[in-house]
Amino acid sequence: MSAFEDYLKSVEIQKLVKELGASKIETLIKEIKHFTEKEAKRRDKIVLSYFGEDGIKRIIDSIVQGLLSPPKLRKNAKVLDVGAGSGFFTTKVFDKLRRHLPEAAFYAMDLTPAMLQVLARKTPEVTPFLGVAENIRGSVEQASRYLNIPDKFDAIFSTLMLHHCLKIERVFESFRKAVEVDGKALVVDLCKHSFKEFREEMGDLHLGFKPELIKEAAEKHFSKVQVKKIPGICCTDSGRSAELFVAVMIP
Ligand SMILES: C[S@@+](CC[C@H](N)C(=O)[O-])C[C@H]1O[C@@H](n2cnc3c(N)ncnc32)[C@H](O)[C@@H]1O
Repeated sequence: MSAFEDYLKSVEIQKLVKELGASKIETLIKEIKHFTEKEAKRRDKIVLSYFGEDGIKRIIDSIVQGLLSPPKLRKNAKVLDVGAGSGFFTTKVFDKLRRHLPEAAFYAMDLTPAMLQVLARKTPEVTPFLGVAENIRGSVEQASRYLNIPDKFDAIFSTLMLHHCLKIERVFESFRKAVEVDGKALVVDLCKHSFKEFREEMGDLHLGFKPELIKEAAEKHFSKVQVKKIPGICCTDSGRSAELFVAVMIP
């Protein structure tokens, strides 16, 4: 059994979520159930059918460009993907970043053990750990009892996780507290849409966000925030098209 599987066995996720002071624990438990039963084994296929190869390339390019934009990250940057899920974007983003930051160290945090198990099988070069986006520092502290995780990160990003978080301002505050003062944070998520069925189908808690609302919420914790739409994203198989935004945040 791998060290990661050993670690998963030692952690009781419901207890961890309570200890991390997450609000509405029953909502988080529902999220874990959704991702364990409906997405862990199918996540990569879902993403592919949803955005298509071209859309995925655009998303990855937006994340990598945002993370490599000034201020420059150090060669040995510590980079964290929050809500990394099955690691579909994590591995692709990290592969591209590594070309520019050859000594970087990569970490992936998520709420759902089953999602991280899929990620862990993909690569030994990422350190996965359990936690909640609303309290990254506390999550790191808990995971550090078993794994080697830094206190703070030079770059933190998340892809399609924010609309699963009840209180988004707590997420921005948590990102700010966990990122180095000369680092940066980045969030990709859905713009406001009208597909109410996503709540049931995808376990979504928010039907996307207006970019202005994201800027306002992020500016409470970061001194410089840029939010823009990622052009040319649409669903290829369902006929439902939701735009995406990317927010780049500097402490
Ligand atoms: C839609 S998936 C996105 C996964 C991955 N980033 C991707 O784009 O394929 C959302 C992920 O966020 C995780 N998640 C939901 N709420 C979370 C929270 N409060 N803290 C950390 N992770 C959370 C879920 O377990 C799930 O893996």
